[in-house]
Amino acid sequence: SQSNVQLVNHLDRDYLRLALEHDVRTGLAATPKWLPPKWFYDEAGSELFTRITRLPEYYPTRRELAILRAEAAGLAAASGADTLVELGSGTSEKTVLLLDALREAGTLRTYTPVDVDAVTLMAAARRLAARYPGLAVRAVCADFERHLALLPRTGRRMVAFLGGTIGNLGPDARRAFLKELRGNLRPGDTFLLGADLVKDRDRLVAAYDDAAGVTAAFNRNVLRVLNRELDAAFDPDAFAHVALYDERHQWIEMRLRATRAMRVPIAALDLTVDFAEGEDLRTEISAKFRPAGLRAELAAAGFTVSRYHTDPAGDFALLLAQA
Ligand code: AVJ
Repeated sequence: SQSNVQLVNHLDRDYLRLALEHDVRTGLAATPKWLPPKWFYDEAGSELFTRITRLPEYYPTRRELAILRAEAAGLAAASGADTLVELGSGTSEKTVLLLDALREAGTLRTYTPVDVDAVTLMAAARRLAARYPGLAVRAVCADFERHLALLPRTGRRMVAFLGGTIGNLGPDARRAFLKELRGNLRPGDTFLLGADLVKDRDRLVAAYDDAAGVTAAFNRNVLRVLNRELDAAFDPDAFAHVALYDERHQWIEMRLRATRAMRVPIAALDLTVDFAEGEDLRTEISAKFRPAGLRAELAAAGFTVSRYHTDPAGDFALLLAQA
């Protein structure tokens, strides 16, 4: 019931606004221009992402679900967790598999979804509280790169970071994030990580450039967010969606390419941004991993990997690490 739902919001309007302003000023003044992917996820962006997860080309969600279906019980038992903390929880679609398994194991008490989008977060929190009577849902609206220290500290926690979202962080940010997370965990806590694996370039690119154009709409949505939040005047249709695979860095890059020269006012920032024809705005990296590299990064942060699973095709990895 709703009385079991609590929301702690670390992202008041001021914080979000200042963070967005900072990111836009920094990223759009840089060469090449860039924006962090977290600004995709307003209500419309979260909805577009949900549609992406159902596209035939976008394999990660289905693969991770398949691994969870096969392994959730074992992972739950190995974790002994009473509290599931889910970073970047979104619509919490995969979460029920973990919650079912923890309930089955008899340890489940608390679910803490953590997301930057308060609307999506609360919808998921209410849905899960209704589905699991007796479960305490303590939703936290926060930026997982900045607010790990503010997460609830009670109970034996399993911190889940699913979907391959860790790939949105570059190597330095990943190192910092893993170290910070490790520093906030106690003995007995575990980290459940989903990561996309290196594979055939064509399949990778297709997953980020689908035939129906949903990913293109998702990519352009960040411009709509700037138009609304910062009174900017981007014409989203004047930007082409670009997805490319960078072999050297092992990551997918999404970009928005100006199809003509443009001068874009951003009224709230008293700023005008110029685009040359063909100029790219980089909007996301999505890193792909090799098993040995994943293990090495976790070990370097002080984690011990206790379980490592992939789907039968070897597309995606799900691992459990001990703090
Ligand atoms: C939610 C970050 C895991 O990188 O695959 C999907 C986001 N971007 N299509 C990913 C995304 C374009 C997704 N993550």
